[in-house]
Amino acid sequence: MTRSALRATAREFIHPNRIPTVAAFIAILGGCGRNATTEPRSIRSVDYGEEMSLVGRRFELVGKAVTSDRFELAAFEIDELGEIFAGALRSANLPKEGPTAHLDSMATAFAEQVLPGLAQAARTRDRKSVEEAFEHTSEACNDCHQASKKAFIVVPHRLGADIPDVAAISPPKNTSIPVPRASHDLDK
Ligand code: HEC
Repeated sequence: MTRSALRATAREFIHPNRIPTVAAFIAILGGCGRNATTEPRSIRSVDYGEEMSLVGRRFELVGKAVTSDRFELAAFEIDELGEIFAGALRSANLPKEGPTAHLDSMATAFAEQVLPGLAQAARTRDRKSVEEAFEHTSEACNDCHQASKKAFIVVPHRLGADIPDVAAISPPKNTSIPVPRASHDLDK
């Protein structure tokens, strides 16, 4: 058994959400007729959003690792990301809101066409190369969020930034439209 196969098998066993629970049973009762156009997912699998939280964490670590020249750690996290996009997301319960038909093909494209460039950049141990690949990768993250009608989940381009981006959106400058200061101004 290869190391990655072993790891995947170990994950099957230790992931708490893979243990059938009352919640999973309720999901069978409530899930009939949902996602009728897509392949049925295993009821023991995790939710798409949970896997995505992990994706966010790992991608954030890639950026933070590279800003400290920890290229091995970055390469490890990129490898793990590849396993999530090529594997775990395929059996994750699809989001209940927003379009989902594009998810499997976009996840495959991400694993096969986007991540290898980032992995290659990390192997060069050149921060500038990783910076460029990271920016390109984060654009691909955001493309899928937009296609999923979740454009508000913004993956920042900058290495080392927290994911997702929760920085305040600054008010428009030099605009003639008055910004109401209090809720009672809205009535006028
Ligand atoms: C194949 C499409 C797709 C790609 C590619 C993708 N995402 Fe997502 N992501 C989603 C969807 C769909 C959701 C919303 C899941 C839900 O509704 O529960 C999401 C949600 C998230 C969330 C919020 C999770 C939560 O529940 O709080 C984060 C963080 C995130 N993605 C990070 C990333 C990062 C970082 C990348 C790139 C490395 C990425 N995503 C690439 C589809 C994608």
